[in-house]
Amino acid sequence: MNLKDLYIDFFKSKGHKQIPSAPVVPENDPTVLFNTAGMQPLIPYLTGQPHPYGTRLVDYQKCIRLTDLDTVGDSSHHTFFEMLGNWSLGDYFKEESITWSFEFLTTILNIPVEKLAVTVFEGNEEIPRDEISADVWKKLGISTSKIAYLGVEDNFWIAGESGPCGGDTEIFYFRSNDPVPDFFDPKDSRWVEIWNNVFMQYYKNPDGTVVELPKKNVDTGMGVERVVAILEGVDDNYQTSIWKDTIHKIEEISGIAYENAKTSMRIIADHIRTAVFIAADEAGIRPSNTDQGYILRRLIRRAIRHAKKLNIDISSNFEEQIAITIMNQYASYYHEIAKNKEIVLAVLKEEKNKFNRTLEKGLKEFEKEINHLNENQIPAEVAFHLYDTYGFPIELTVELANEKGIEVDVEGFQVKFKEHQEKSRAGSVQKFKGGLSGDGEMETKYHTATHLLNAALKVVVGPDVHQKGSNITPERMRFDFSCDHKLTDAEKEQTETLVNRWIEEGLDVLVQETPKTEAIASGAECMFIEKYPDIVTVYTIGEVSKELCGGPHVKNTSELGHFRIQKEEASSAGVRRIKAVLE
Ligand code: ALA
Repeated sequence: MNLKDLYIDFFKSKGHKQIPSAPVVPENDPTVLFNTAGMQPLIPYLTGQPHPYGTRLVDYQKCIRLTDLDTVGDSSHHTFFEMLGNWSLGDYFKEESITWSFEFLTTILNIPVEKLAVTVFEGNEEIPRDEISADVWKKLGISTSKIAYLGVEDNFWIAGESGPCGGDTEIFYFRSNDPVPDFFDPKDSRWVEIWNNVFMQYYKNPDGTVVELPKKNVDTGMGVERVVAILEGVDDNYQTSIWKDTIHKIEEISGIAYENAKTSMRIIADHIRTAVFIAADEAGIRPSNTDQGYILRRLIRRAIRHAKKLNIDISSNFEEQIAITIMNQYASYYHEIAKNKEIVLAVLKEEKNKFNRTLEKGLKEFEKEINHLNENQIPAEVAFHLYDTYGFPIELTVELANEKGIEVDVEGFQVKFKEHQEKSRAGSVQKFKGGLSGDGEMETKYHTATHLLNAALKVVVGPDVHQKGSNITPERMRFDFSCDHKLTDAEKEQTETLVNRWIEEGLDVLVQETPKTEAIASGAECMFIEKYPDIVTVYTIGEVSKELCGGPHVKNTSELGHFRIQKEEASSAGVRRIKAVLE
């Protein structure tokens, strides 16, 4: 059986409910581009909201960490990875958590106790040294010489700057054929971390103050790729069963053995896998020059550049063959991969063709430029020219330059890039004012309709309805909300009627800036209060809705047209989804 299944089954046997992997693009959190840890979609529940599945949860979660983007190409870094996690939401704490981790590793995965070592939190002025965890480890048979106490830098975990957090205990495995040393030295690179159990009992505010959470939680994370490599006894993650088929496919397409082109093959495999997961995500991300879309573009373009390095014929369907190999492997675990297969292939192909039209010329231009350098650095103008004319993301130019031992004036490039963005933004505002661009207009309407729908559901279904997510395109709106049942036909009809009545009434939409505390006191609706700055923007629609929101919105509801619900369906446990249009 594979690791994911073993893990889920084990924690189910300990009373956990399996929750589905959340989308890789967070639906409710505009502060991050991608989910970077299993706990990220669970933040509302770790901070006190009851989870519809109860207090013991387990899952495997799709994660993307961009900090590792430049390191991809070595044997162990990936941009996309799967994280196994089990959670206690105010249920069990240190003793059970550690005991089950130990049991899973030693009896299900059959890892010998001698090959394990742990770190625990040594404490600081506010939080005491974690002797409780250390005692549990000793009781289970981990000797004192294999327990290291470390400080905030190593054994206190938080996602980013603020949010739920706590001291942790990390489990290490001795990944070497050398005899296991008597004493555990966490700095010895033969010891690799395989599991992190965070005892999440605090909340760090954006101003740095730390308060106790209403409940003591456990948040754990184990990286699938690394543990599979350990179980299969290989040092190179790309030689595990996870990557075997993909690497074989790249060998077959290029006619080159992996041994002779490891770096490029790893980059191609990693980047195409991540691109597949981003493009397949329900958020509908497509290659672009901003945010997640730019990451997707960079990944595809870098993979193509490395394919070219291996003399792969770019106009062949090589990307499709690789993507299909990857998708076949994941389709049974992630329904969106199976569902959006054709879309993914189309996205890859289109971006490839776009890049391929300029790649060859761009590479020639690059060669020409480096022959004319006065110093060992590519000037900002040249890097910008390569971006603007040939579609070379700056990272690609840096990589090409570094391969020749040349630097790039990246800072100067960023200045030019910003100037350019501001110019094109000014251009599109102009266009918008002149009524040439319909996009912004429709999206604005949908923003306002979202507030009306939220308010109508509260009237029809009940005050417990809260927004859980929203996604808007010029064509439609999507709204996720907490609700424990499928809406009846009558409820849907009443909701639609109410929204349309408010539209017909021609209610004014007022915008006001106010201190956050006042906005909350006045009962304004919002999703994650801690995410907002001290001064917030509140939109009020007649007497029917008041919400914290960044906008933009129409001035009067009469601008919206007719509102129609197209579909009502389940989104995740306890969350329903409405798709609706304005016509
Ligand atoms: N959230 C913890 C981590 O990502 C478990 O390491």
